[in-house]
Amino acid sequence: LLPCDIYANGGTACVAAHSTTRALFANYNGALYQVKRASDSQTKDIGLQAKGGYAKASDQDAFCAGTTCIISVIYDQTSNHNDLTVEPKGGNGGADSGVPADALPVTAGGVKVYGASFSGVMGYRNVATTGVARNGSPEAMYMVTSGTHFNGSCCFDYGNAETSITDTGNGHMDAINFGTECWFSPCSGSGPWVQADLENGLFESGAGPSQDSANTGNTEPYVTAMLKNDGQKTFVLKYGNAQSGALSTSYSGSLPTTTGYMPMHQEGSIVLGTGGDNSNGSIGSFFEGVMTAGVPSDTVDNAVQANIVSVGYGGPTSVAGVLSQDSTISLNATTPCCTTRYISQQSGSTAQSGTVVTAVISSTSAASADQDSTWIVRAGLADSTCYSFESRDYPGEFMRHFNFHVYRQPMDGTQQFRQDATFCAETGKDGQGTSFHSYNYPTRYLRHYNNTLYVSSDGGPNDFDSANLWTYDVSWLITTPWAP
Ligand code: AHR
Ligand code: AHR
Repeated sequence: LLPCDIYANGGTACVAAHSTTRALFANYNGALYQVKRASDSQTKDIGLQAKGGYAKASDQDAFCAGTTCIISVIYDQTSNHNDLTVEPKGGNGGADSGVPADALPVTAGGVKVYGASFSGVMGYRNVATTGVARNGSPEAMYMVTSGTHFNGSCCFDYGNAETSITDTGNGHMDAINFGTECWFSPCSGSGPWVQADLENGLFESGAGPSQDSANTGNTEPYVTAMLKNDGQKTFVLKYGNAQSGALSTSYSGSLPTTTGYMPMHQEGSIVLGTGGDNSNGSIGSFFEGVMTAGVPSDTVDNAVQANIVSVGYGGPTSVAGVLSQDSTISLNATTPCCTTRYISQQSGSTAQSGTVVTAVISSTSAASADQDSTWIVRAGLADSTCYSFESRDYPGEFMRHFNFHVYRQPMDGTQQFRQDATFCAETGKDGQGTSFHSYNYPTRYLRHYNNTLYVSSDGGPNDFDSANLWTYDVSWLITTPWAP
């Protein structure tokens, strides 16, 4: 039995079921999602390998080969057809983008599938649903998300929201939320937490702040986040490791007593990836989620969690300190002079020939500086066991060396470019982080010298080959990206 079969047997049927990875009914054999490719704007539905099974990611790979795709629709697997399409502008955010279709390759059921990886300004919505709770009706929902990909911006939500995509007041939302935004202090630990977005507040309890000091956050790569709300008086929050074990209940009790939440005023729109009013600064990962009519029993919740665990979600996600293919990272210098510096594309240069430098980046840096110091990890263009670093600002442009200086330039398809843009990882030469040797000049490593990037040897003919501080200069900490 799959999650929606379990909910149906418990008398609390799914009214919406969304996943890019798998069927949520044993009998489902339709499309999971639709991708749209950049080259010709054509779309294709991505379905299952078998009825009740896992996504046929190879169809996406074939359709999107040589171009890029976004996920344009996430289909509802229930007969309600509450499909999610890219969210238009709302009260607090402009129109969103669809997520890149290949940004989150993972394994589920032992096969390669894609999760949905949200950077900022990405979201989905359905404002005209069937069967979803309205005006104080009971409902529940869960999503499988990631504790390695989150931020503190409003609001990585999945669930019930406003049909107008504006904030229409307390109790007009009932969505599961995941992130480090602590709306009501104190929150325990540093998160990310499973919270309830009930509108105008991310609630860890009826009184707002967490009452569960043991719940310091869920940093597992796959997290089950669950919300149950009777619509009248009470709600429940549960969380769990989606790869193993049982759910924990972080709150079970009264709805907020502040005006508007008791009873609830849900409007029945479905949101994914943003706040109810399309506040869209949040990032996160989504693998599957459902909404029910009625409040399921704990027995049902436990059976659903057991089924999620049985999927065996695994494989790469965006993890700080690990080079996961298609993850977004920043690279932090380890030389004592320069630990506030990150590998960055020099601003002010032309788009086609940006010099790669190190720049001091902090939480107060301009957004453009954050973006300049953010890179997307790709399989090495000349050797897939090594890496290439794609510019986050200039898709299709990569870090490459030329005359041993490092630039960000457009991939021109030549073998020369592929080799110049391929770097192979090894343990950091100073014992910290990671060092990267050049694929075609393997004794040369990515190095900063006078705050400029080179491929440098440990002693050699050029000033930037200086042996002084070489082991530090070629060692880099892989960090969470400055720009999502
Ligand atoms: O409740 C938190 C957020 O506040 C909602 O998601 C959004 O609509 C409002 O800005
Ligand atoms: O950076 C060293 C070499 O300089 C590159 O391989 C080549 O593109 C250029 O001649």
